[in-house]
Amino acid sequence: MPDNPSKPSNNARLAGRRIVITGAASGIGRVTAGLFIEEGAKVILLDRNVDALRTAFEGLDAVIAGVDITREEKVAEVIAHAGKTTGGIDGVINAAGIMVTGPTAELSPQIWRQVIDVNLSGSFFVIQSCLPWLRRNEFSTIVNVASGAGLLPNAPGLAAYAASKGGVIALTKALAADLAPNVRVNCVCPGMVDTPMADGFRANVGNYALKRIAAPAEIARAMLFLTSLESSYVTGATLAVDGGRTFH
Ligand SMILES: NC(=O)c1ccc[n+]([C@@H]2O[C@H](COP(=O)([O-])OP(=O)(O)OC[C@H]3O[C@@H](n4cnc5c(N)ncnc54)[C@H](O)[C@@H]3O)[C@@H](O)[C@H]2O)c1
Repeated sequence: MPDNPSKPSNNARLAGRRIVITGAASGIGRVTAGLFIEEGAKVILLDRNVDALRTAFEGLDAVIAGVDITREEKVAEVIAHAGKTTGGIDGVINAAGIMVTGPTAELSPQIWRQVIDVNLSGSFFVIQSCLPWLRRNEFSTIVNVASGAGLLPNAPGLAAYAASKGGVIALTKALAADLAPNVRVNCVCPGMVDTPMADGFRANVGNYALKRIAAPAEIARAMLFLTSLESSYVTGATLAVDGGRTFH
């Protein structure tokens, strides 16, 4: 393993790393941001809900910006400003996302476009805006939050969501090839996670080998692995973090 100029001298696994995290106001993104702060990262937190971001991270050392990730010009502006503030960007966590489910025949073009726009195009715009910074560093990382729905969409009503997440998995592989060796690009595929997004949905935990849904911290820890040097030889990977739902 090569020496890392930003390798921490203490046990913090992300010391000196500057990481953009989208969707940080809630759920998986929020818990990941908290974990990354604990692990020494300087975090740049993006969400369309800036009030929730402020409340969640009040008093903590974080750069906060309210932005809708589907608005590429605004995303570019916010990332350029944040990169200047922190002096660089070494990693991205794309956790912002929406889930809309429903009968395919009733799926409106607006909803279809919105789900693809946020989950797939928004993730791409964030990555693209961060690229000039990421490329300056030999050890940069991108982790996209896809979904088990992108691996095994075997429930009704998932057309738009599953297509967006399948797109995220393909985007991850394409970028891993494109951006190597400076930037490693991986994705996680959670099963159901206990967050506001999952409110009102009931998982059939009988389909999960571990017979339970995940806590957001369990997804965050997988992203810590993929963002830290512990995964220095991992790129283009699709990591199912789903209690064993999709392997059988
Ligand atoms: N919760 C689950 O069961 C589950 C399972 C698999 C995958 N995921 C994925 O994990 C990611 C995080 O989901 P979560 O469960 O934490 O959901 P959540 O609803 O708790 O959080 C999502 C966050 O993304 C933000 N967001 C949504 N659209 C945005 C936009 N256009 N611009 C900026 N911010 C935006 C929201 O404001 C919110 O803070 C999503 O990509 C989701 O698809 C979730």
